[in-house]
Amino acid sequence: MKIIAGNWKMNGSRATLTAMMGALSEVKTENKVILCVPFTMIDTESSNNVQIGAQDISSHARGAYTGEVSGAMLAEIGTKYVIVGHSERRMYHDETNDIVREKAKMALENGITPIICVGETMEEKRAGKTLDIIEAGVRESVPEDVDGDIIIAYEPRWAIGAGVTPTAEEIATAHKVIADTLSYMGLDGTPILYGASINSENVADIVAIKNVYGVLVGGASLKIDEFVSIINNAN
Ligand code: PGA
Repeated sequence: MKIIAGNWKMNGSRATLTAMMGALSEVKTENKVILCVPFTMIDTESSNNVQIGAQDISSHARGAYTGEVSGAMLAEIGTKYVIVGHSERRMYHDETNDIVREKAKMALENGITPIICVGETMEEKRAGKTLDIIEAGVRESVPEDVDGDIIIAYEPRWAIGAGVTPTAEEIATAHKVIADTLSYMGLDGTPILYGASINSENVADIVAIKNVYGVLVGGASLKIDEFVSIINNAN
């Protein structure tokens, strides 16, 4: 069983989500499928084989935080998963590991599984800092005393939307560092996804890499045929 999570970012509409849910209801798979959609679509009902998730959550419980959506509000409409610390949030909204950890904590307190993203920029990769960034990302973004499920996503920031992926060896090394860090934190067995430029052609090879429990898919999760092929090819 692999986890196939889609991240629609700020794309799609309720109509396109209805079409996607219809197509996915025909798919027979053992894999767990999660679709993280914009806030306005989260009330779409999850089906037997697709869970709907969010892409962000406030680090605050309630109060004067105009524009934010709290964990309790997400839980109230049945949200089971939320992406936290996606590189676009880190890049455009200055989210640090500390903020990401607070968000993950809010998710857990409300019974929502956070999908915590970590990954290096091209500049960090060139400077040979990839493994340090990933290790610190996990150590600092994962809350202490986790009570509930969490998922980690390794997303090399330079490969997102770029049509290129790291080599199998680079992915294996990154996932091993994440698995070891989680193990040190007492979180053995936490699923670790790979994300960035996943498509129906490369998914089988990538999920075959050790410590890769599934994928987080951006652009390709918006295309019905392509997303269905990714789910089918990930076995
Ligand atoms: P991509 O995005 O699949 O379009 O590269 C991945 C992500 O940002 O989660």
